[in-house]
Amino acid sequence: MQYKIAVVPGDGIGPDVVEETIKVLDKVGEKFGHVFEYTKYLAGGAALNQMGEPLPQETLEGCKNSDAVLLGAVGGPKWDDLPGEKRPEQALLGLRKGLGLFANLRPAILFEALKEACPLKSEIIGDGLDICVVRELTGGIYFGEKGFKETEYGKAAYDVKIYSEGEVKRIAKIAFDMAMKRGKKITSVDKANILESSRLWRRVVQEVAIDYPEVELSHMYVDNAAMQLIRDPNQFDVIVTGNMFGDILSDEASMITGSIGMLPSASLAEGNFGLYEPVHGSAPDIAGQNKANPMATILSAAMMLKYTFNLSEESDVIEMAVKSVLNQGYRTGDIMSPNMKLVGTKEMGQLILKEIKN
Ligand code: IPM
Ligand code: MG
Repeated sequence: MQYKIAVVPGDGIGPDVVEETIKVLDKVGEKFGHVFEYTKYLAGGAALNQMGEPLPQETLEGCKNSDAVLLGAVGGPKWDDLPGEKRPEQALLGLRKGLGLFANLRPAILFEALKEACPLKSEIIGDGLDICVVRELTGGIYFGEKGFKETEYGKAAYDVKIYSEGEVKRIAKIAFDMAMKRGKKITSVDKANILESSRLWRRVVQEVAIDYPEVELSHMYVDNAAMQLIRDPNQFDVIVTGNMFGDILSDEASMITGSIGMLPSASLAEGNFGLYEPVHGSAPDIAGQNKANPMATILSAAMMLKYTFNLSEESDVIEMAVKSVLNQGYRTGDIMSPNMKLVGTKEMGQLILKEIKN
């Protein structure tokens, strides 16, 4: 089979980690007889530098015309002072909205070999950790009306958080379907004690739950959820939540797994189309220095194989290769611990390649 992948390396360490990931995909292709065809596109700061805008039309069109998108990371201090609509992050938001990527899956898994890197006490972690954050990605406060107005305290800025029943319903369904394949437990996170949009969210999630009698649903306020993730993370299986709460809680969940450098993500549209990217950012301080951890992006490619291309076996091969390299004691700087073997981005990529035997 032939698959068309749009590649958006982006900024900072984006190109570093994407390069290793493409090698891994090619190796998997070779092993299983698939051809992955890549087309590179600019976005973020890289696009600002070369074309004066964060998300050129050509990039959006190219992504639309591909089977899936692999993205590195965007942003950096160079572009921090630009006005909102010119910031590199706009590229991400534009891709999410433009490609209809409403469902963001962020699995937080603590690999056995990385237990040491987890900042929580071992009795809290127990046997490990396996949570999936399902974040709504094209609505809520990120995309509500925004602007400025005069108030008695001077100029004010506002961002409206708005959710429609349809938006909540479709993300809730994704979360329930996910829960059915996992531990059959969902925690819907909101702030329904305060926010009207959260009360609607809660009601719609309850309505969707009727079709999933086997799934145990509970609701939690976001402040409590932030606390519970640290106090007892294993009470969670699937967390479903809105755009901004999901942004925050997924970073928190990632830290429990030892490093944000390990966390992949899938952003899915209706159908099988998806954009795959690491949860981490562009880390400009270590860009181009062979220091970044490529595993989150490589694991994102594994998610691509599974969710967009329906290639589960191929996906498992990548995950197993990553685990095996970790078990052998190889670590990039972000997950380094005493007595382990420190390697760079490229070496880590090579080690993973070697594990994918023909
Ligand atoms: C993420 C990031 C983005 C977000 C930024 C870079 C726009 O933090 O994907 O979690 O807030 O969604
Ligand atoms: Mg974030």
